[in-house]
Amino acid sequence: MPKTLKKRIMNAIVQLYIRLTGSSLAQSEQGGEEEGPRDPQRGEILRRAAAEGAVLLKNDGTLPLSGTFALFGRCQQDTLYSGYGTGGDVRRPYAVSIVRGLTEQGASIEEGVRKFYEDFLAAHPADRGGWGDWPFSYPEPEVPQSVLDEAAAKTDRAVVVIGRASGEDRDSEPERGSYYLTDAEEKLLSDVTARFAHVAVVLNIGSVMDMVWTKRASIGAVLLIWQGGMETGNACADVLLGRQNPCGKLPMSVLRLDDYPKNFGDPRENSYDEGIYLGYRATETRGIPAIYPFGHGLSYTNFELRARVGQGRVQFTVRNSGPCAGKTVVQIYVGKPSGQLRTGDKGCPQRELVCFRKTALLAPQEEQTGEVLLEERLLSAYDPARSAFVLQRGTYAVFVGFDAHTADMVGTFAVNEEKIVEQCTPVLHENLKARIQRELPTALPNCPLSSWEEVCSGKRSVEEFVGGLSDDDLIALSRGDLKMDSPLGPSGNAGVMGGVTPSLRARGVPAVSMADGPSGVRLRAPASLVPIATLLASTFDPALVREVYRLLGQECKERGTDVLLAPALNLQRHPLCGRNFEYFSEDPLLAGKLAAAAVCGLREGGAAACPKHFACNNQEFGRNLYSSNVDERTLRELYLRPFEIAVREGQLDFLMTAYNKINGVYAHYHYALVRGIVREEWGFAGCVVTDWWMRKGRSPDFRPVKNNAYRIRAGVNVLMPGGNYVGKGIQFGPPAVGKKNGLTRAELQRNAAEVLQTILRLGKK
Ligand code: BGC
Repeated sequence: MPKTLKKRIMNAIVQLYIRLTGSSLAQSEQGGEEEGPRDPQRGEILRRAAAEGAVLLKNDGTLPLSGTFALFGRCQQDTLYSGYGTGGDVRRPYAVSIVRGLTEQGASIEEGVRKFYEDFLAAHPADRGGWGDWPFSYPEPEVPQSVLDEAAAKTDRAVVVIGRASGEDRDSEPERGSYYLTDAEEKLLSDVTARFAHVAVVLNIGSVMDMVWTKRASIGAVLLIWQGGMETGNACADVLLGRQNPCGKLPMSVLRLDDYPKNFGDPRENSYDEGIYLGYRATETRGIPAIYPFGHGLSYTNFELRARVGQGRVQFTVRNSGPCAGKTVVQIYVGKPSGQLRTGDKGCPQRELVCFRKTALLAPQEEQTGEVLLEERLLSAYDPARSAFVLQRGTYAVFVGFDAHTADMVGTFAVNEEKIVEQCTPVLHENLKARIQRELPTALPNCPLSSWEEVCSGKRSVEEFVGGLSDDDLIALSRGDLKMDSPLGPSGNAGVMGGVTPSLRARGVPAVSMADGPSGVRLRAPASLVPIATLLASTFDPALVREVYRLLGQECKERGTDVLLAPALNLQRHPLCGRNFEYFSEDPLLAGKLAAAAVCGLREGGAAACPKHFACNNQEFGRNLYSSNVDERTLRELYLRPFEIAVREGQLDFLMTAYNKINGVYAHYHYALVRGIVREEWGFAGCVVTDWWMRKGRSPDFRPVKNNAYRIRAGVNVLMPGGNYVGKGIQFGPPAVGKKNGLTRAELQRNAAEVLQTILRLGKK
């Protein structure tokens, strides 16, 4: 069946489901502006965050703007504030478009062109589509020659806004209007650059698109504003008008499409043949030129850097040597020695980010110094033959600078003796059956019935409480309430778990409710629409990300939600992945450090985080069918690392598995990854939930163990939501307990105890 027909059928099924369950909240909330109540304090934080994540890709002095300029491109008004799908459709109270932000800040916008767009868009409103079928771009109108000429007679300055949307359940396409410019956009650019001497382009996009054209000499400046949430227009105006000096840096490499990983887009299997050589790790090692390198981002001022390297440490001084106050990001990369890993040694990338520091706002001539200790774990490489992170013997080259490509080598240090930095268990190549049998828990002693109140007051342990639960109670704790928008949580919730049955509630077990993120608290009640994750990552500023997530935590609390289904920690492997806007970066350290900040911020605000989608959900097409086939070193050094940092540094309470398979096994059945790595190695003591509904399957090691039993055995505690999904082949019964080789009551008890320990930690009564 052709791909598009298949997609349409899938979309129709999803639409039907959404209608049946009433789970649709705010589809397609793009474009347009609304006026609702503004919370000035929160608006200020989000405006600052959106402005700090704007990346100035190029500038010949065209920016900041002064005097009158002509503003082109329909996204000045049809501004894209976020991506589509569960991670973007937040019921925002208001949204400030680009033209409005500029107007309200007193910018002098040429009237003829502005009026042309206003009239045209009033007569031709954007078609915003439906689930999984959203437009990648809106058709650009042709600006009449007379309007262009009149504007050019008044000013030699112009700004062109180019917009691109992306979203869940739909990857971008390597076609005009999606990854590439449309003919109409090309025409607009050539009409404008032919008449105006100083042209700036504003990119209002959710994921990387083709940027080869931005290098044209006729384009003086390019400002990448991403999708900045409801304050997009204000933040954009702040940077364009020079009230905020740009300080965002690219959290991914911008390359030619052919230079990204090859295996992308197959609905059955994608082999990550590039291994650890992803993004700048590939380009810097193989000499592939980037259009814009990882970490790149200009300022209206200049910075100078001096650095010294000691044994595993770097001292740096950064000085603002330009005309105005600004911030930058000091980036430290290391080139490790190669050739000492025992299996399939593929060497090490020439440069790997091992530390980044955002500076304070430095006045002209002001300096900031810093010293960082390089973490041994980040200097080591994973050797599958020894199941260990190994600090190899040899010379380590240290590069310090303002992006992955131009960072200068500032020194080296030597490691004279090999060292095992961390011994791991051989999870991916062992006899899993024997391991599972060895690790089966023993049943808890039967206990008299107790109440949750007694557990909360410390009179009884969680284990004693679980020892008094019936099989039905244990099973109920292994699933969420039957559908999304559960009556046990605030209206529009994504799901509820914990006290989902009258029996559990009678004992006092509270219902724990979850709402979608990461772009805001997705409920029926209005909530702040915050900048997309990629923009937040462009700030390279964990403190700022923490502040934004603290705000999200407060909004969760105010709206009665315990858990935010965020942040999303998949790496940006390929620019066509539809959900890149929800993801931070191609780099695991940047994604991990920001994730830990987000988890802490949410907790401070009053909610728990649930990072997702564990792991390798790097494509939307066929997302609950395909297998991401990844070697163990790449998994551990790249795709698992953001989750690992979030667990170890953020002390996570929840984690969501992915829809896809990893090396042939669905994430929600992956004992080796979930029970093995997440719980045993990283010490995760929280609750793992599935992504919403899961594909059924049977354990290859234990034939009677299938579906929910298979999931629970793997360490994935809770099926979300908990009801039957009316869809082909996705019916669930309760877990089969007690058959020969089947799930044991002890496993169900362990599962329930893990859920209840998490609820206890939340402090919810
Ligand atoms: C998405 C998750 C989301 C969940 C609940 C799924 O379709 O993949 O990211 O949290 O729905 O809405």
